[in-house]
Amino acid sequence: MKLLFVDCCISQRENDSRTRKLAEAFLKAFQENRPEAEIQTVPPETLLALKPFDAAMLDERDALASVGAWDAPVFSLARQFRAADQIVVAAPFWDLSFPAALRTYIEYVSANGLTYHYEADGCHGDCRAERLAYLTSGGDFEREDSVGVLYWRQLCAMFGVGQFDYVFAGGLDIDPAKAPEQLEAACALAGKLAETF
Ligand SMILES: Cc1cc2nc3c(=O)[nH]c(=O)nc-3n(C[C@H](O)[C@H](O)[C@H](O)COP(=O)(O)O)c2cc1C
Repeated sequence: MKLLFVDCCISQRENDSRTRKLAEAFLKAFQENRPEAEIQTVPPETLLALKPFDAAMLDERDALASVGAWDAPVFSLARQFRAADQIVVAAPFWDLSFPAALRTYIEYVSANGLTYHYEADGCHGDCRAERLAYLTSGGDFEREDSVGVLYWRQLCAMFGVGQFDYVFAGGLDIDPAKAPEQLEAACALAGKLAETF
């Protein structure tokens, strides 16, 4: 069993990153429950090193896809995403969604013909994962139509990932005195969620 951990815990708080604490709570519970599982991590450095696609890069990727050259390096993140049994993505709530590095990662894993394809009735997912969890922490309270959450829910539908769950540790910058308690509650939720993975 392979769990893919997309680690976008980019933070000025370093080891005190709330998003990282959420991710750690998830991973700790997951490892206790599934000691045999392999965890593959895509670290923040990898995400931050990705160059957004320009027209020439897209042409090159399309040319590789047209001859089925799926083993090309440009598809390596998409191959890894497609092959994972379960996926957890952790990212802070930035500018109403998440850091740009995660958006660029999505460009790389959204590879037509590999992670999804089109048929007459529209888009069909080709990823193996049954579940994906999205973990995020935000300064403001959670809003019903939080863009990052909606985005990952829709990506799951596109990639064919059957079940989407999320934990939003919200309101952490409203009252500093309450933040530790709020974060702890969210970490407990993340741990409970991981036990079902
Ligand atoms: C660049 C940046 C953008 C942010 N944008 C938002 C935002 O749009 N809404 C919000 O509620 N909080 C926002 N925040 C606050 C963070 O979401 C919050 O402090 C979060 O817990 C940070 O996670 P971390 O401790 O892992 O760094 C932003 C913080 C940063 C650094």
